[in-house]
Amino acid sequence: MTRTANYPIEPLILNRYSPRALSGESITDTELMALFEAARWAPSSYNNQPWRFIYAKRDTPYWQKFLDLLVEPNRLWAQNAAVLIIIASHNNFAYNNKPSRTHSFDTGAAWENLALQATALNLVAHAMEGFNYQAAAELAKLPTDYTVEAMVAVGKHGEISRLPDKLQAGEQPNERKPLDEIVFEGQLK
Ligand SMILES: Cc1cc2nc3c(=O)[nH]c(=O)nc-3n(C[C@H](O)[C@H](O)[C@H](O)COP(=O)(O)O)c2cc1C
Repeated sequence: MTRTANYPIEPLILNRYSPRALSGESITDTELMALFEAARWAPSSYNNQPWRFIYAKRDTPYWQKFLDLLVEPNRLWAQNAAVLIIIASHNNFAYNNKPSRTHSFDTGAAWENLALQATALNLVAHAMEGFNYQAAAELAKLPTDYTVEAMVAVGKHGEISRLPDKLQAGEQPNERKPLDEIVFEGQLK
């Protein structure tokens, strides 16, 4: 299935999706750092840049510990990723240490930048909430004023036929709600 937009938008936005078919190959540090570089340029309230990315590359001592954070259904496919990333955010503004309302919102923008850059590089970036958040915070040694937001599996595209049968069907880009269910003039209806 090819996605179609009802209004013309940048193809990169439509082309980003969340595959589970990963090849198990590594990616280069240049590719990995390009993803973080893209994330770095996201907008944030007061330019506070609350996002933090803690990563583990496969074939390193960190890898198994990161993989073990995932729930089994995610571990099944994410074990073929090249990099696993814990995305966290700093709850407070750096300049006055007061709470930021938008640390999660800002960090979501950074994640989307990362995902779009991955798409541009023909890499997979698949976000996950199916993991142990508390264990992730401990593993990443996050202070208490940081929030674990999500994990991301990054890697090279793999063969769909090598996925377990039950995952193969979900490997197509999915659809979206129509605009009139999410956009309102003046007030929510
Ligand atoms: C914060 C977040 C958490 C997600 N958690 C999971 C997850 O645990 N496992 C999974 O397979 N997909 C997960 N996804 C992927 C979503 O299911 C996917 O983004 C959504 O269905 C839209 O599809 P698309 O990304 O292919 O456009 C997550 C996505 C986001 C943004």
